[in-house]
Amino acid sequence: MRPDPPTEALPDYSASLRAFHRAFGRDLRRAVRAVPLPPGSRVLDVPCGDGFYTAALARRLYPFGRVTAADLSDAYLAAARTRFARLGRAADVALVKADAYRLPFRDGEFDVAWCARSLITLDDPVAALAEMGRVVRPGGLVAVLEDDEFHRVVANVPVGLELELHRAVAEAARERYGSRTGLSPARRVSRYLLEAGLRLERRTTFAADRDAPFDPAVRRYLRAMMRETRDLVAKHLPPVALAALDREADPGHAGSLFRRPDAELTCFTTLFLARKPE
Ligand SMILES: C[S@@+](CC[C@H](N)C(=O)[O-])C[C@H]1O[C@@H](n2cnc3c(N)ncnc32)[C@H](O)[C@@H]1O
Repeated sequence: MRPDPPTEALPDYSASLRAFHRAFGRDLRRAVRAVPLPPGSRVLDVPCGDGFYTAALARRLYPFGRVTAADLSDAYLAAARTRFARLGRAADVALVKADAYRLPFRDGEFDVAWCARSLITLDDPVAALAEMGRVVRPGGLVAVLEDDEFHRVVANVPVGLELELHRAVAEAARERYGSRTGLSPARRVSRYLLEAGLRLERRTTFAADRDAPFDPAVRRYLRAMMRETRDLVAKHLPPVALAALDREADPGHAGSLFRRPDAELTCFTTLFLARKPE
C-alpha cells in the first residue's frame, strides 16, 4: 500500500534530524536498549516524528508487545508509515494522529511512554509529560531522551571559537525563546519530570565518538549541523568568529572539520527514566 501524501511540509529541522539519526543511529539505539521493557510491554512513542525510535522500540519488543506512535504532523506520520512499511511484519506498530497535550488514550493504557528530543517543540513540557504520565499505568515509566544545543555534538574546534559559539547560542535562544537556556532542555528535564508528578529513577548520558576520516553519514550530518548552527548564530557572532566558523564548515578548506586528519566529534544525549507512583 502506498503511503498517504503528506498534507503539509516537514519542518525545517527534519533534514538535519534525519542526518543525525543516520550518523549516530547505533548509539541512539543503545539508549533505547537501556529502557527496561519486559516482553509484552505496551509502549507509546510520542511525538514519534519519522518513527526512528518507534522502529527501534518495535524491534526490541517483537513478537511480544506493541508500540503506538503518535504525532500531530501529517507529514511526519506519513514518513513514519513509510519507515514501518519497510520493516514489514517485524514491527507491530499503531500510528495515531494525536496532540501530546490531549492524548486519545485511557488512563494507564501503556507500560512505558517514550519521548525523544521534543521538549523544545512542546512549549509546555510539564503539561506534555504529565499527560504521558496519565496514560502510563501506576508503576510504569516515562522515558525522556534529550540533549542541548551547547553539547549535542562537540567538535574539537579552537577554544576561542567554541566560547564565542556558546555565547552566541545563548543570545539566539534568548531572542527566540526569551531565555538563554531556551535551546537547552536537557538541563531542565529532571525538574520537568518532578513537576509532572513523576519520580526520577535514573539518568544516563550516552557519548558517541566519531573520528576523521568521517564516513559519508557523519559528513552529511556535519554539513547539516554547520548550516543550522550558522543560521542560528551568524548575527550574534563577531566577524572574526563567523569567519572561523565558515572555515571549519568549508569542505574545500584544508583546516576544516571535513579535512583535518585530527577532526573529532562527540555526541551527548541523556536518557531520563521516571516512574509513575503506584
Ligand atoms: C524534534 S521532532 C522529534 C521527533 C522524534 N521524537 C525524533 O526524535 O525523531 C518533534 C516532533 O514533535 C511533533 N510535535 C510538535 N508539537 C506536537 C504536539 N502538540 N503533539 C504531538 N506532536 C507534536 C512534531 O511534529 C515533531 O514530529
